[in-house]
Amino acid sequence: MLREGRFKKSMDPDAAEYSTSLEDDPRLFGAVVEINMAHVQMLWEREIIDESSANQILGSLFKLQEEGLDALDLRPELEDIHMAVEEYVKEEVGEDVGGKLHTAKSRNDQVSTAIRMVLREEILEIQELIADFVGVLVERAGENTETVIPGYTHLQVAEPTTFGHYLAAYGQTFVRDLKRLNASYEETNRCPLGACAFAGTSFPIDRSLTSAQLGFDGILENTMDAVGSRDFALQTMSGLAILMTNLSRLCEELVLWSSSEFDMIEIPDEFSTTSSIMPQKKNPEIIELGRAKSGSVIGDLVGGLNIVKGLPQAYDLDLQELTPLLWNSVDQVKSTLLVMRKLVSKLEPKPENMYENAERGFATLTELANTLVRETDVPFRRAHKIVGKLASIVSDEGKSLGDLTLEDLLSASREIVGEEVEISEDQFEEALDLHGSVESRRVVGGPSSDSVEEELSKLEKKVSNYGKIIEKRRDSLDEAKEMLLDLARGG
Ligand code: ARG
Repeated sequence: MLREGRFKKSMDPDAAEYSTSLEDDPRLFGAVVEINMAHVQMLWEREIIDESSANQILGSLFKLQEEGLDALDLRPELEDIHMAVEEYVKEEVGEDVGGKLHTAKSRNDQVSTAIRMVLREEILEIQELIADFVGVLVERAGENTETVIPGYTHLQVAEPTTFGHYLAAYGQTFVRDLKRLNASYEETNRCPLGACAFAGTSFPIDRSLTSAQLGFDGILENTMDAVGSRDFALQTMSGLAILMTNLSRLCEELVLWSSSEFDMIEIPDEFSTTSSIMPQKKNPEIIELGRAKSGSVIGDLVGGLNIVKGLPQAYDLDLQELTPLLWNSVDQVKSTLLVMRKLVSKLEPKPENMYENAERGFATLTELANTLVRETDVPFRRAHKIVGKLASIVSDEGKSLGDLTLEDLLSASREIVGEEVEISEDQFEEALDLHGSVESRRVVGGPSSDSVEEELSKLEKKVSNYGKIIEKRRDSLDEAKEMLLDLARGG
């Protein structure tokens, strides 16, 4: 349809197949129809096309909207959905009228506008999924503010904390992911329409009008930048890659913690698989996929950055290759968030095993050093040496935290400083107590049950504030859409 004037031959069928974006375009269908509606109304308003033509074109666009994607002829020779929609309109109202639709616009500005319209909805949906997920983390954390777990550094038991404190940590992380996507939304919801190929147009169009009708927060001013940039997509993809990286860490821990070696959590049966040969197996495969899909999303980002990095201004068809990577990231993130939310809501902690692992790892010896500093006035560095010696003695003897005696400490002290530290049996026992140690960490954001409860209530507030922003944005998109359709119908 585009080639008749310029070329003597139709496109090689393999080349047509190779270059069409029709496989990924269905996602843009609704947006492309709305963009055409807004554009036609604006052309009429600015007297660039006459009322009768505008009405006929709008009528056919409504018909297409009702009939849906199936009404379109999606032959690869048509190249993309933009041409297919125009072709449909021309079929409906004839070329004399339908041929006016593409006045003062290009596929270059139209495709970027359409991607942005679809992406902004996806961002809101992902943000809602994150908010729900954080809601579950907060709920599960609230149930476990006294469930002691070993905290790790270098995957070696370090200090005791609680399962609640651990889940709240992820809550904070995912709230930042929510925040990052908020910024992506702002960049995404800017309208490139009217930039045309890249240099605008000599027709007296009204860019602000179409931008407002399509629910954008404003136009992208420079017309070359408007068609040639995809940093809004890269920014979103980078936010999604970071989100998936965070999710992947959680997945990795759940895989480890559900193994018989750690044995600290039970993955719900509904989210486990078994083996085709080993009947006893309970495999955490769903979580493994969450971990793996982060790789795919990171790959999309790296691929996207590479596609864009060498492109001369303004528009190059390379940009078409970025779009499916963006949608892949969006889809992987949505399904992972949904499954992980359900899984975490049903996850069963095993408090006795958690406690035992913390004991076996001498998780409270740091607190014993703190106690020496508080009660006997030895400087921290000396207390560190004495307790280090204690750890070395008892681990050589194969003891666990529960087997430690005050005499062990005193003998370590004799070896290191030549005298016995002055600490009572009670003080010694209290320092080693896992629950007591956790409860003594009342610092803001720390693991004591009060601290975690306070943290959770602040987290809940943050999430609900984002919820309000999401709702407001949704309302404003819905309102714009309704107005656009009303206006177009009235026309
Ligand atoms: N099919 C293209 C895409 O998906 C949009 C139009 C490209 N413009 C062009 N001049 N070939 O990005």
